[in-house]
Amino acid sequence: MAKRTVVVMPGDGIGKTVTPESIRVLDAVKFDAEYVHGDIGWDFWCQEGNALPDRTIAMLEKHKLGLFGAITSKPKKDAEKELDPSLKGKGHTYFSPIVKMRQHFGLDICVRPTKSFPGNPLNFIRRKADGGFEEPKVDAVIFRQNTECLYCGVEWTNPPAEVRKALATHKQFKAFQDVPGEDLAVSCRIFTRAACQRICRAAFEYAKKYNYKWVTVCEKPNVVRETSGMMEDEAKQIAKDYPNIKLGSTNIDAQMMWLTKNPDEYGVFIASNLFGDILSDGFAGLVGGLGFACSANIGKDIAVFEPTHGSAPKYEMLKPSIVNPCAMILSAVMMLDYVGETEKAERIRKAISDVVAEGKVRTYDMMRLSGGPDVFKHGAATTQQMTDAIIAKL
Ligand code: NAI
Ligand code: MG
Repeated sequence: MAKRTVVVMPGDGIGKTVTPESIRVLDAVKFDAEYVHGDIGWDFWCQEGNALPDRTIAMLEKHKLGLFGAITSKPKKDAEKELDPSLKGKGHTYFSPIVKMRQHFGLDICVRPTKSFPGNPLNFIRRKADGGFEEPKVDAVIFRQNTECLYCGVEWTNPPAEVRKALATHKQFKAFQDVPGEDLAVSCRIFTRAACQRICRAAFEYAKKYNYKWVTVCEKPNVVRETSGMMEDEAKQIAKDYPNIKLGSTNIDAQMMWLTKNPDEYGVFIASNLFGDILSDGFAGLVGGLGFACSANIGKDIAVFEPTHGSAPKYEMLKPSIVNPCAMILSAVMMLDYVGETEKAERIRKAISDVVAEGKVRTYDMMRLSGGPDVFKHGAATTQQMTDAIIAKL
């Protein structure tokens, strides 16, 4: 019997393309696992009114380990339109299955490493005063609180009377008191102290384990005082337990500017859900973009690994496939780290690094081509060829 069972949820679009590629690589390093398929995504919304069916939840509960590709989400109106006619008007509302999964299982710690691979033509370069340029080595790891903040779903257009009444007790709400309900939208940014403590602790533990000198909390406590203020306070408290690690604090807006000025000066970041999402996309853009951006969603006893990219529907039908499998493979590598298979994880990372450095096999994004069926004419590798090259280096 295999040591572990992994629930594999390819989802929609290119999720279905890249997920099997990551399993080919896991097989190549002889990761001792059995894979079971989990349904998730748009088709299940349309057919069952639930993009994350209960049977998938039960599988994750049982096996505790998930590998997820990507899903397609569409605006509220389209979701209603595409729902099976037999399900219409029965109170089904579309909710992103990945957000639901994070909340249902309390996968509150999202880790998004952004590390440049030498030789990647997509790496950020910085112009020097003398006209030359340099390529800063980026190695930033974003710890994003994954279950709260503006993504918790507590929001209304035309809030019910009792909500308006409650809002009216705040003096800052005076400015909005005459706005008609249908013209008023409210999304709540909710933080809890326990969740702030968990994300801060996880970030410091990671910094300690991997010898990062800095942990930077990236929020906006000067303006969003209550929520960002709570995160910053907790980071300061927890920092006291790690005397050898320095704590920095930046504002999300300023950080997005500094990101391209001195990205090599940062290590581990702590950020709330929305700011962490923004920050990690920003850093990902410096080290190869969505084709390389991997992530982990970690809870107390369940973890799900996924690339940051979405389902890129416009590329789903291209045969052979053009998309870069690295983000998905690197997400599977994070799963290996999580289960303690560090040596296998390192081997795959090194293989990817070697393929990138050699530069012979590159998917279209690495060649700065715009995506489409003719990328192969320009020498781009297919998704499968990219994986083959990585496997060959193992
Ligand atoms: P996307 O990430 O699917 O694609 C944006 C663009 O990035 C693509 O057009 C492509 O040029 C590039 N790209 C993405 N993955 C790539 C890869 N592996 N290799 C090379 N290039 C790649 O985001 P988009 O277009 O905004 O959304 C498409 C769908 O995905 C939407 O329905 C959206 O809701 C959903 N989505 C799902 C996510 C998830 O499952 N976690 C995350 C983001 C979007
Ligand atoms: Mg994002």
